[in-house]
This record gives sequence, structure tokens and C-alpha cells, in this order.
Amino acid sequence: MTELGPVAWPPAPIRTERLVLRASEARDRPAFVELLTSPEVNTYLGGARPREDVEGELPAVPEQWPGSFVVELDGGMIGQVLLRRHDRHRPAAVGKVDLGYLFLPRAWGSGYAAEACKAALDWVDDALGEPVVLATQTANVASMRLAARLGFAEVERFRAWDADQWLGLRPAASQLVKNS
Ligand SMILES: CC(C)(COP(=O)(O)OP(=O)(O)OC[C@H]1O[C@@H](n2cnc3c(N)ncnc32)[C@H](O)[C@@H]1OP(=O)(O)O)[C@@H](O)C(=O)NCCC(=O)NCCS
Repeated sequence: MTELGPVAWPPAPIRTERLVLRASEARDRPAFVELLTSPEVNTYLGGARPREDVEGELPAVPEQWPGSFVVELDGGMIGQVLLRRHDRHRPAAVGKVDLGYLFLPRAWGSGYAAEACKAALDWVDDALGEPVVLATQTANVASMRLAARLGFAEVERFRAWDADQWLGLRPAASQLVKNS
């Protein structure tokens, strides 16, 4: 994993219609523990981790790095949106900004992930002006639907980690304008 690039971090909190995206704080730790230990959240992410391990290893302020947005609803964390740059990935994805997302099951089915990811992608457009890639298991139907809703188009399908994977790409907003 490499640095995201020349971005100001932490950013001013980003407000959407229903949510706030911001850098991680100590009060988010219980929600991070829940995310990492939930079998539902981790079905397509290699499986949940034992609570004891996570409680022991997680820093006081978890996941505090440029590109890691906590998503807050009514003052509490409901998920995380991750923007990272991979140095080891599929050739089409190496060096590109990669979007990831994890939401607590109680927050599924309300459009929160789409709303938060859209705001994070707008932030990438403003801060970096680059295309974004996204990889997900094809069996992860909710994630595949979200990728399509966010405007990611298929680059390739491939096999990795014992599962069928999908790689999508969303052009930078400036490229969309140029190509239209
Ligand atoms: C992937 C994940 C974020 C998708 O969550 P999600 O709840 O399906 O996505 P959204 O929050 O965008 O909600 C979309 C759903 O809410 C519905 N919805 C309800 N009210 C809505 C509203 N006001 N606005 C928009 N959509 C709304 C939509 O119709 C849609 O339902 P559908 O998929 O049945 O059509 C979630 O399943 C998750 O966290 N999974 C575990 C982590 C994971 O696998 N991440 C992928 C890593 S690659």
C-alpha cells in the first residue's frame, strides 16, 4: 500500500443529505470492533476476526490515515469508506486510487453506502482529479450493485483468494466531461 498523494488530511468533515464523513476518532473504536468481528460484514472479506484479537490489537484511534473516512449517521459511526493506492494489485489497478467500503448490517438497505461513497468520490475528484478502481467478489451482490450505482464499469474479472473477483473503473469527473 502506498500513500494516497498530496491531500490535506484530516479534511473538513464532509456533509451529505443524511451523513457526515470525517477522519477516525477514539469514540469510533467500538464500531470498528463491530465491523471487524461481524460475520455478515466479513462474508466476502476473508471472514470475521475473533473479538479478543481485535480488542487487543486495535489502536485507541483506529484506522487513522489519509483516505480512511468514518461515516457517521445521527452522531454515531455506521461504516467506513477507504481510499487507498495499491502497489501490488492487478496491472490495471496498480498505482490507482482504490475505493473500499464496509457498513454495519443495521445500516444496510437505506442507501447510506451509496451516499457516502458518492461524497468520497467527489472528494477524490476535487483533491486528486484521478480515476478510481474498485475490486469486489462477484458473489458479493450488494457490493456489485453499489459499484454499478456509483458508475464503475467492468475492466476485468479474475480469480484470486479462492473466489471470482471483479475489477471496475470510474473515470475522473474531468475525463467524463472531456469524453462527453
Ligand atoms: C457493500 C455494502 C456497503 C452495500 O450496502 P447496501 O446497504 O446494499 O448499499 P446502500 O447503503 O447503498 O443501500 C442500497 C439499498 O438501499 C435501498 N434504499 C432504501 N432507501 C434508500 C434511499 N433513501 N436512497 C437510496 N437507496 C435506498 C436501495 O434500493 C438498495 O437496495 P437494493 O440493493 O435492494 O436495491 C454492504 O453490504 C456491506 O457493508 N457489506 C460488507 C462489506 C463488504 O462486503 N464490502 C465490500 C468490499 S469490496
